[in-house]
Amino acid sequence: MDARLIDKSKLPSRHVTEGPSRAPHRSYLYAMGLTKEQIHQPLVGVATCWNEAAPCNISLMRQAQAVKKGVAAAHGTPREFCTITVTDGIAMGHNGMRASLPSREVIADSVELTMRGHAYDALVGMAGCDKSLPGMMMAMVRLNVPSIFIYGGSILPGSFRGRPVTVQDMFEAVGQHSVGAMSDEDLDELEQVACPSAGACGAQFTANTMATVSEAIGLALPYSAGAPAPYEIRDRFCMAAGEMVMELVRKNIRPRDIVTLKALENAATVVAASGGSTNAALHLPAIAHECGIKFDLFDVAEIFRRTPYVADLKPGGRYVAKDMFEAGGIPLLMKTLLDGGYLHGDCMTVTGRTIAENMEKVAWNPDQDVVRPVSNPITTTGGVVGLRGNLAPEGAIVKVAGIPPEKQRFSGPARVFDNEEACFEAVKNRAYQEGDVLVIRYEGPRGGPGMREMLSTTAALYGQGMGDKVALITDGRFSGATRGFCVGHVGPEAAVGGPIALVRDGDIITLDAVLGTLEVDVSEAELATRRSSWAPRPISATSGYLWKYAQGVGPAVNGAVTHPGGAHETTSYADQ
Ligand code: FES
Repeated sequence: MDARLIDKSKLPSRHVTEGPSRAPHRSYLYAMGLTKEQIHQPLVGVATCWNEAAPCNISLMRQAQAVKKGVAAAHGTPREFCTITVTDGIAMGHNGMRASLPSREVIADSVELTMRGHAYDALVGMAGCDKSLPGMMMAMVRLNVPSIFIYGGSILPGSFRGRPVTVQDMFEAVGQHSVGAMSDEDLDELEQVACPSAGACGAQFTANTMATVSEAIGLALPYSAGAPAPYEIRDRFCMAAGEMVMELVRKNIRPRDIVTLKALENAATVVAASGGSTNAALHLPAIAHECGIKFDLFDVAEIFRRTPYVADLKPGGRYVAKDMFEAGGIPLLMKTLLDGGYLHGDCMTVTGRTIAENMEKVAWNPDQDVVRPVSNPITTTGGVVGLRGNLAPEGAIVKVAGIPPEKQRFSGPARVFDNEEACFEAVKNRAYQEGDVLVIRYEGPRGGPGMREMLSTTAALYGQGMGDKVALITDGRFSGATRGFCVGHVGPEAAVGGPIALVRDGDIITLDAVLGTLEVDVSEAELATRRSSWAPRPISATSGYLWKYAQGVGPAVNGAVTHPGGAHETTSYADQ
């Protein structure tokens, strides 16, 4: 394809490269070594979340060079830039976790601003950690210029005394160590071998869940999300993405042509089928919001309810992302779901073809047991369940992948904590009883602020062997690595006076993932009495980004978003 055939008069970059008045702008581009021909070609933003904060994103700059080669080979002019990330594995268990979910907004906003400010015509967005994947996809849909998403790839599994291990074993080792079940020496040895390479956390935690979404929603090339980060084959996908984004420019295929309601349903389907992270119930509504589609927690939960759970992936199952890639990748999962009637095959993708067309040459691999056929699922409903009840009128979510149905109901007295630290302290000191329902509140999007994940607490419980002997509910979130009966996203959150703020120690709470209910056994009259004496608490952030975030963030049920979204837009960036 020859980019000189592309009519630049409708592309955003005409505002910086065409006509005599743009001579100063062009002089800046010449200053960076661009030729006249390159300046007048479409400008393609190559956005990465590269930094040295964590292994998740460390390989992205290498991979970006391959994307740039692909763009250039297809007569586009790549312009690389980086945005931030906050890496949950390091932000976990302290106040840094408040920065995690807000970072999704900063990533989307910063990519938007770079693209707008420099008038780029297309985007290849590369991300490798939990919030950077949805943040990058949100930016694509928001800007609505032709775009392709590239995942940085997952980490390789570690090996501890012959046993494959992931960072999940590391968090749970802290719990084992706290009760004397692991020595200082073993903890030290494990931490040195658990994470042996570049790449995002290897199990079906949030990053791999959203990477699975990127292919199913149609924004990533088939197979591109599966290869682990250290594999050089990733560069071939990156090169192809660079070439293909120019094809999308030529055909004017845009993210909102791809991310439709049906595509969002496909995305929720692969999350459920792979026992993916509950965080998808935040991120899918947020991506939908960018294009003005209503798709909230209940819509996600409805898909989860009717989708078979077929991919045997950690943390609920046995395998990691590398195994999935070797078995046949995400197309293998999508193939059985499509054949079973669980995916919409007519959705457009970044290949310029539909999901069904992309799947035409995908053959079922019978010599693997990572992904089961939908005719023989692990369980007939998805690995994640939506809940509603008098404790969660705006919904809540629980991951049940790996939990047998007879253990998906739990009833017990509440033990209430007003932040995660208080609960972690109680868990560390074993100051709780078997059968308790631990309630961690004032950790929602606004109240935290930042809706922290509670992995340190849940992993410590699991490490103490109590993962299935207590339940935990919160208006915060859980990591994709969380195991046990843990209900998150309880809404409305405590900070805005939701019923979770009214719970007291000893109230009987019942969670039932089979019925989809979350109830506290307190009469409406008593709840009303308690509500009359409830007063909002000052939030901990009194200035800076977290203060700003707390002022504007919306409820978890709609994805904890911070702006009016596509429904309120008069003209998208791509058409300006
Ligand atoms: Fe980055 Fe898990 S901490 S993917």
